[in-house]
Amino acid sequence: MVKKVTVNTIKNYKADKEKFSVLTAYDCYTAKYIDEAGVDIVLIGDSLAMVALGYENTNSVGVDEMKIFTQAVSRGVSRAMVITDMPFLSYHISVEDAVKNCGQMIKCGANGVKIEGGSDYIVSVIKRLTSVGIPVMGHLGFTPQFLNMLGGYKIQGKTQEAAEEILNQAKRLEKAGVFSIVLEMVPEESAKYITERLTVPTISCGAGRYCDAQVLVCDDVFGKYPEFKPKFARKYGDMGKLIYECAKQYNDDVKSGKFPSEEEVF
Ligand code: KIV
Repeated sequence: MVKKVTVNTIKNYKADKEKFSVLTAYDCYTAKYIDEAGVDIVLIGDSLAMVALGYENTNSVGVDEMKIFTQAVSRGVSRAMVITDMPFLSYHISVEDAVKNCGQMIKCGANGVKIEGGSDYIVSVIKRLTSVGIPVMGHLGFTPQFLNMLGGYKIQGKTQEAAEEILNQAKRLEKAGVFSIVLEMVPEESAKYITERLTVPTISCGAGRYCDAQVLVCDDVFGKYPEFKPKFARKYGDMGKLIYECAKQYNDDVKSGKFPSEEEVF
């Protein structure tokens, strides 16, 4: 029996100064491979709006889509903690609505949820979610659901003052009960400053080497999303090319009569 990663495992990683890994997944068997590779948290990111569904940004997906992806991923995972990224407007309308929508993800197999922001309202949502037993991952710095307010994909926390502001928000999230916080597109020095002042682990998404963990979008890691590659992402393979080559070979084989062969027929 594999030992499941829980909020306690994550807390212990920070206490023991041991780095951990987070990677997104959106379907059952990608999640299974990622889990078997030893990744500690599988995140069903709302990035799926872009990399799996082809939308321009993350704000187009809703609770119903995230439920389907959550069910698929949780069926593939045995060891990792499964976290669902709550989509735009699924936790902003009221605390009650947030509990209802986040609770649905738990019913679909998630072990927790991720929500963006550090306002008073978000703090009250976190308090309520944790009080009903839903672990929460926070998300500060560049928060993609605020894309239209932030005026594009911009680095956050560049000055000492801006880093202090993120730290203040992070401390409030920590007090409200989050088990970890994603810092997205924050300069490495600011992320280090923030990480050293928190008891909960920080997860870097383009926030450098001094966070307690790293997260990337799986399609960037596998080389499958062709639109762009963020500076902070590392491409470990070329799945786009592999899929193209397999599809091309299949197409050629069908058209030339090489597929199916004698072994492939009844
Ligand atoms: O949507 C997502 O995939 C994310 C992570 C990259 C942090 O929010």
